[in-house]
Amino acid sequence: MTRLDALISNSGAYSRSEIKIMVKKGRVSVNGQTVKDYSLKVSENDVISVDGKILDTEKFVYIMLNKPAGYISATEGEKNVIELVPSEMYRKGLFPVGRLDKDTEGLLLITNDGDFSHELMSPNKNVVKTYRAELERSVTESDIEKFKNGIVMRDGTEFKPAVLRPDGEKAAVVEISEGKYHQVKLMFAATDNKVTYLERLAIGGLALDPSLNRGECLRMSKEMLEKI
Ligand code: URA
Repeated sequence: MTRLDALISNSGAYSRSEIKIMVKKGRVSVNGQTVKDYSLKVSENDVISVDGKILDTEKFVYIMLNKPAGYISATEGEKNVIELVPSEMYRKGLFPVGRLDKDTEGLLLITNDGDFSHELMSPNKNVVKTYRAELERSVTESDIEKFKNGIVMRDGTEFKPAVLRPDGEKAAVVEISEGKYHQVKLMFAATDNKVTYLERLAIGGLALDPSLNRGECLRMSKEMLEKI
């Protein structure tokens, strides 16, 4: 059980003082009954309405973004991915789960749930991320072998074994289980190739929703989250 004002506050739509006033004015109902006590104990399953409209009182939100190029994976500064979250999905404290480079497009998760992000990013979780890369030249059997064996860069950075599959001329699909800085670009650089375009297609079993245009977000259901 939680207090009515706390549950309404989860929506992120009203300040604490606004909530108190609107409850006292009789604008809020719980399961269809108007209530006037903002400290009333309610459960997360109760249906809260404001002015007859059902309020979304979920504390944590999980958003899938089809990231366009030109946005940084950060919460502030230049053009950042949080600016792309529409107001009805917005919550205070949203941040991107991991990072895509400014010029990388595709699947990026955004949440306000720190535990979820921590779990997903944990290096020993080995969540596979799938990318499609366009390249300066087509991949060879020898490149596939190198990716399969893992790559050690000249500066000592080690990348674990990865799956590399050609995807037509001068393009490939790559599966990596880590998320090191510029990892895909660096792995191709280590095979004397160059990424000219990069897109993330999937995180674990969760694929980028094909109905999402670049720059669009969707709120993820529990079932979608379980696919990861
Ligand atoms: N690897 C990269 O090089 N860049 C990204 O944005 C993601 C993975």
